[in-house]
Amino acid sequence: MYEFHPYFTNDGSVGLYSPDFDDIYHSSTGALTEAYEKFIMPVNMDELLKKDEIKVLDICYGIGYNSKSFLNFIFEKIFSHPINSIAPIHTNNNFATNNTIYNDKIYTDNIFNKISITAIDNDKILTFLSPFIKTGVKFFKNENFDFEKKNIGKYLEKNKRIKNQKINKIINFLIFEKIVQNYPDFLTNEAVTRIILDKKYAKYFTSDIRGIYRGKTIGGYITNLDRFLGGFLAFLHNIYYRHVANRYKKNLKRYKLDNVTFDLKIGDARSVIKEDTNLYNLIFLDAFTPSKCPCLWSYEFFKLLYEHLESDGMILTYSTSAAIRSAMQEAGFYIGNVYNERENKFTGTIATKDKSLIKYPLSKFDLGLLKTSAGIFYRDENLTGQNEAIFEARKIEVENTDRISTSQYKKKFNKGEICKNTTS
Ligand SMILES: C[S@@+](CC[C@H](N)C(=O)[O-])C[C@H]1O[C@@H](n2cnc3c(N)ncnc32)[C@H](O)[C@@H]1O
Repeated sequence: MYEFHPYFTNDGSVGLYSPDFDDIYHSSTGALTEAYEKFIMPVNMDELLKKDEIKVLDICYGIGYNSKSFLNFIFEKIFSHPINSIAPIHTNNNFATNNTIYNDKIYTDNIFNKISITAIDNDKILTFLSPFIKTGVKFFKNENFDFEKKNIGKYLEKNKRIKNQKINKIINFLIFEKIVQNYPDFLTNEAVTRIILDKKYAKYFTSDIRGIYRGKTIGGYITNLDRFLGGFLAFLHNIYYRHVANRYKKNLKRYKLDNVTFDLKIGDARSVIKEDTNLYNLIFLDAFTPSKCPCLWSYEFFKLLYEHLESDGMILTYSTSAAIRSAMQEAGFYIGNVYNERENKFTGTIATKDKSLIKYPLSKFDLGLLKTSAGIFYRDENLTGQNEAIFEARKIEVENTDRISTSQYKKKFNKGEICKNTTS
């Protein structure tokens, strides 16, 4: 039976634990906050928004915080734009058939980008649950036993609550609609239905989508798919229109709903990307830690990503591991730090083909670290290896290497035997 282990993280968004990987999906500090800080804030959005089309690859979509944060950011930015009177975001529904009335200024500011997101994950059920996930919960209590066992509970208690973060409900509706259109079996999936209708999980799901889903099910299944979809789209239209109209009533003439493509691919990211022919502006890499999921952190995987990145594109990840950075470097990327303003420290890595995009280069110490045993990267020659085998092969390589160990390197560096103060 599919296991689902939700809990609240410290910004009021839902986090998950995976028994298979014995790892958490999200930072307990704040799942949604992490998505913004590691995948959205380091991006120069003003530059990106100048493009006619923005392509994003979200590797390890999970419950979708990274894609959702990206859409939410753009959505908020566009709606708060002083000259913008038209909501450019939404779907290919049939309601907005008339031409949108564009305003010259909007063209000048080039705010009408087409946004294409390709999201990949091999856990179908989780991705199907993604539009239901709640964010911005102000009052919550974590009392799940799993997390006590895994010390996650303790960690959560120790941490202080941080600023609440929320995803606009329109984004969840948008993703729901796209998934339903591409995967009609979504609505008849036994595990998804069971989890969504289970009262003990209700607090983790938004009542809007859960409500319509519940209202349309009898005995756990959607009764009439066509009627459900028709009703759902009408509902979506109303809620969307009301939201837009309330905020921009005076100027709103019409809105265009087909500027966002959200293409969810279920499968191993390696094979999905091998088949893909797109070039991306942004690649979010959010796999479990390298020791648990090395197949998505290997040198060969980064070479594959190199082929799918635009010349001014950027890969973003939370990992700062030397093994990952050296694999990126070997694959041809320039690498830099992701700076987290709230924590005032580096909390991730970016990889690009264009050195000028690196705002926070690696220090001399970090660059030196890549040459130590810690910098030995994972190998997955045919991009088909199993995690355990990839992990073991690296372990043996590390044990038998002539490279200086990390601890020796640190000692030498601290003694000043390695020049300290220059950066890359
Ligand atoms: C750390 S979680 C990602 C969290 C996610 N970004 C979110 O916002 O919820 C890692 C994800 O990687 C997925 N995964 C693990 N191995 C994978 C693989 N080989 N290909 C695709 N997805 C994989 C898991 O199903 C899990 O959802």
